[in-house]
Amino acid sequence: MAIRSIRTIGDEILTKECKPVKEMTEHTSELIEDMFDTMYEAGGVGLAAPQVGIRKQIVVIDVEDGNQYVLINPVILEMEGAQTGPEGCLSVPGKSGTVTRPEKVKVRALDREMKEFELEGEGFLARAICHECDHLHGHLYVELAEGPLEDVTEQEESGQED
Ligand code: NI
Repeated sequence: MAIRSIRTIGDEILTKECKPVKEMTEHTSELIEDMFDTMYEAGGVGLAAPQVGIRKQIVVIDVEDGNQYVLINPVILEMEGAQTGPEGCLSVPGKSGTVTRPEKVKVRALDREMKEFELEGEGFLARAICHECDHLHGHLYVELAEGPLEDVTEQEESGQED
């Protein structure tokens, strides 16, 4: 277990398409544990592998609903409705922006055992899933933000960072 350094906006890796994971290795398993540690340490609710410099399709999410979601090679299958609200990103420190996302999403992914599953998320979880999946395709929320980004203090940031 280790805390990894988080890449920030301007770093090229955040603009790259990530590669699908083919098999679970000890190395990848360790990466997933490190991603959770790094996310909790930074006070975030989600983290994608490229944010720690790894071009692999892996996302971890914990929106405090009692689950630690690991999404490997995720594909969003369905989107429904819309929600508009504040969003932040550990790779865009000190900022927040208003982003419209689907209210509900259904995603198919592999878990830590490389078993396929489907997850339906609503509200904040749906927002986190969309935000993190975007990272795997080289996109940051700032591309979708309505109006200019706002400066937020460290304290205000916690709880709405993903
Ligand atoms: Ni992010």
